[in-house]
Amino acid sequence: MGKEADSTAVRTAMWRALHVLIDEPPHVLEDTLGLRIAGVDDDGWRKRPDMDPERTRPNRSSIVARARAAEDMVSSSGARQYVILGAGLDTFALRHKGTVRVFEVDAPAAQAWKRERLDELGVLDPGRLRLVPVDFEAGEPWLDKVVAAGLDPAIPAVVSMLGVTMYLTREAISATLRAAASLAAGSVMVFSYSRPVEMAPPEIRPILEGAAKGAAASGHPWLSLLAPDDAVALARGAGFGDVHVVTSADLHDRYFADRHDGLSPVGGEDLVIAGVR
Ligand SMILES: C[S@@+](CC[C@H](N)C(=O)[O-])C[C@H]1O[C@@H](n2cnc3c(N)ncnc32)[C@H](O)[C@@H]1O
Repeated sequence: MGKEADSTAVRTAMWRALHVLIDEPPHVLEDTLGLRIAGVDDDGWRKRPDMDPERTRPNRSSIVARARAAEDMVSSSGARQYVILGAGLDTFALRHKGTVRVFEVDAPAAQAWKRERLDELGVLDPGRLRLVPVDFEAGEPWLDKVVAAGLDPAIPAVVSMLGVTMYLTREAISATLRAAASLAAGSVMVFSYSRPVEMAPPEIRPILEGAAKGAAASGHPWLSLLAPDDAVALARGAGFGDVHVVTSADLHDRYFADRHDGLSPVGGEDLVIAGVR
């Protein structure tokens, strides 16, 4: 199997680290571990155009907001199992030493590369974190594989899928959500989506257009941008009972309202919270 870092996942890990390194505390999320996993040893990464401290404030705000919301959901739900779909350089399992068992699902080559990095750093604890390779576009049954890796399908789980839907076809999104909707009653899924660029506030559009171009140039074109109604319909169609949207403005009110530095996720990704009845 090939091993290759996913450039989109490395970029979001860098934005999470940048938030800690250059934004005033309190931080919405304290996560510099992803940068360590990325193996970036010098400060050269901070000179990348997509790490421009001023221009990319909305990007890093949105990325830390969605991650924080998912992690808060895990804490507030009391669930003992957490499945992270399209995990990239997510570090929840490394930062939280509680009893929640974590299953990271990701594209095989990207995950093989992460596994190697975690091994090199000596931080892979299979008792807490299981890595499950799945390509959502290949029609692979991610849930069967996660159950085979130890998830108990009889008790509730939290499932997140952050920054992934835009890279998938609608068919793959639907199939992925359908599997999550078949989990035990009380399970909750949180997934993020990007709206079509013309739905964003005018000041954010150039950032989104740049991000779309960058994604396509790096071989990861955006395939699915969703309006809120569309995202809700996908979740309901997949079989979820309770479905609601948490907009980027809601995330601002939740995590950024007390800040005085103008950081805000508004115009970035929204979340859908979908519960299994
Ligand atoms: C932008 S990164 C987001 C990573 C992480 N969730 C975060 O918030 O930082 C997109 C992730 O989706 C995964 N992904 C994209 N297409 C996929 C597919 N067809 N099957 C499985 N994973 C996929 C990539 O490997 C990558 O880890």
